[in-house]
Amino acid sequence: MKTPYVFATANQKGGVGKTTTAITLGSSLSIFGYRVLLVDLDPQASLTNHLAVEPEKLEYSVANLIISDSFSPNEAVINKYRLKNGGCIDLIPSNINLARIEAELSVSKGGGLKLKEKLKFFYDNYDYIIIDSSPALSVLLISAVVASDEIIIPVMSDFLSARGVDLLLSTIEKIEKALDSRCTYRLLITMFDRRTNSSLKSLDYFKNKYKDTHFNSIINIDTRFRDASMIRKPLTYIDVHSRGALDYINVAREIIGDFNNGVNGRRAKDE
Ligand SMILES: Nc1ncnc2c1ncn2[C@@H]1O[C@H](COP(=O)(O)OP(=O)(O)OP(=O)(O)O)[C@@H](O)[C@H]1O
Ligand SMILES: [Mg+2]
Repeated sequence: MKTPYVFATANQKGGVGKTTTAITLGSSLSIFGYRVLLVDLDPQASLTNHLAVEPEKLEYSVANLIISDSFSPNEAVINKYRLKNGGCIDLIPSNINLARIEAELSVSKGGGLKLKEKLKFFYDNYDYIIIDSSPALSVLLISAVVASDEIIIPVMSDFLSARGVDLLLSTIEKIEKALDSRCTYRLLITMFDRRTNSSLKSLDYFKNKYKDTHFNSIINIDTRFRDASMIRKPLTYIDVHSRGALDYINVAREIIGDFNNGVNGRRAKDE
């Protein structure tokens, strides 16, 4: 069975660009003709909001998908964008119900495995699945790690951001050991401001410390991202020539190139 490559964004630090990465990378992959499913796994529902879907008005959300066995998974999917080249963005949205089921998941046996099981239903329909995580080390992070081939860790280019990365990496390692899952990770430097010394120095630091485990492309600071979230569309669709869109298109190129060269750490899915 051909399976999609599954990414999750993760960083327990808030506001580092997890949601921006999910939406802008997803839309960048779609303009190359790929079919992309975005999964909002954050009760704050920023990704859902950013795609102009109202969390309060949802009939079904990712919470129904995860928790209910009688639920038809397709009911949770919103077809958001269909491009002429065959690329698309679909969304499994979130709302506050996800916070309600979080407690239930964390005490139920195998709670962290449920998302992966449910996502298998969509494997035939997509080339890439991108899960957007909340800023927490919780059962939702466990769900995202177990379901993913690779974790993208957005880090802001400053030294305060460096501190949390090792904690996140050791958490991911513990999850993998406990649940016998395996995924790779890569850091993605975000909000890089080449005019500041601290940005330049922290870039050096990250590149030295996480040698082979970072994207070569970096994401520069671009005020257009805030405009995009106000307009509630991916920046790539609003202005494909903006600095921010071009940066994420470069990340998409890296990902696509990895596949073409066969150097991607894709793990064989056991099912
Ligand atoms: N490269 C960038 N340049 C400028 N602003 C950015 C950039 N990336 C993201 N932003 C802005 O920074 C804010 C935080 O980004 P985002 O919501 O993606 O972070 P997050 O890690 O998902 O946050 P949370 O932890 O709350 O989920 C948003 O207002 C977003 O528009
Ligand atoms: Mg977010």
